[in-house]
Amino acid sequence: QSGPYRIPVVVHIIHKGEAVGTGVNISDEQVRSQIKVLNRDFNRLNTDASSTPSEFAGVAAKLDIEFVLAKQNPAGEPTTGIVRVRGSKNTWTVNDDATLKAQSYWPAEDYLNLWVTDLSSGLLGYAQFPVSSLAGLESAENNRLTDGVAIDYTVTGSLDDGNFNLTSSFNRGRTATHEVGHFFGLRHIWGDDNGLCGGNGDYVADTPDQGNSTSGCPSHPQTACSVHTMFQNYMDYTNDACMNLFTSGQADRMMTVIENSPRRASLL
Ligand code: ARG
Ligand code: ZN
Ligand code: CA
Repeated sequence: QSGPYRIPVVVHIIHKGEAVGTGVNISDEQVRSQIKVLNRDFNRLNTDASSTPSEFAGVAAKLDIEFVLAKQNPAGEPTTGIVRVRGSKNTWTVNDDATLKAQSYWPAEDYLNLWVTDLSSGLLGYAQFPVSSLAGLESAENNRLTDGVAIDYTVTGSLDDGNFNLTSSFNRGRTATHEVGHFFGLRHIWGDDNGLCGGNGDYVADTPDQGNSTSGCPSHPQTACSVHTMFQNYMDYTNDACMNLFTSGQADRMMTVIENSPRRASLL
């Protein structure tokens, strides 16, 4: 199969009983904004692509991929691809992972499950890695019932698409871009290397070595491990407004996962 790769997405909104369009129970429009961000960022149609520093423009890459809200539910019936469920709890930590996802779940071999809820204590989102034999991912989580991405409702969607109630530094939907990067096998750009230069890194050759994450929104260039840091990468920890690229190496790695990994290849 060749591109464009079409990925059916189901968004489960696990809310607190609010009316639709208020609180955690965000509007369909806000959900659709998040899907638009994924399509723009992964296909390098983001309007801030021009902000990529010229020294990195040559490695900036697009995937040929389309995220679509599911049109059929697991029973084959028409759906908006948005499911709203009153959660058994109001806020959720990573320790509640299995319980959160059991509130609403569609088969992970057929859908990218995206849970939107109130995550506790400033957690923006988290993802499950693919089952894969790629370097560094052998022991990745292997549970289909928790496969997918969870994000906080205050970082879902982008101010480019509407006047949503978003956390100021994370108001362009890049948390989901980052988490879906993990879902397709990308590691953090600094490889969680704890300050070490020349560590295992992210197993991607064209992302510069950096021992630590970058936060906030520094000015370019920043230097770490004797090279300019690519803090504009979606897999760093910078603010949404300062991120604008995946590299060719990252795109290749994601394509390998999408074409070969169980519960990724079956999405196509
Ligand atoms: N802390 C989260 C993670 O490690 C997400 C970081 C997202 N960053 C952003 N600018 N939205 O997966
Ligand atoms: Zn991450
Ligand atoms: Ca690298």
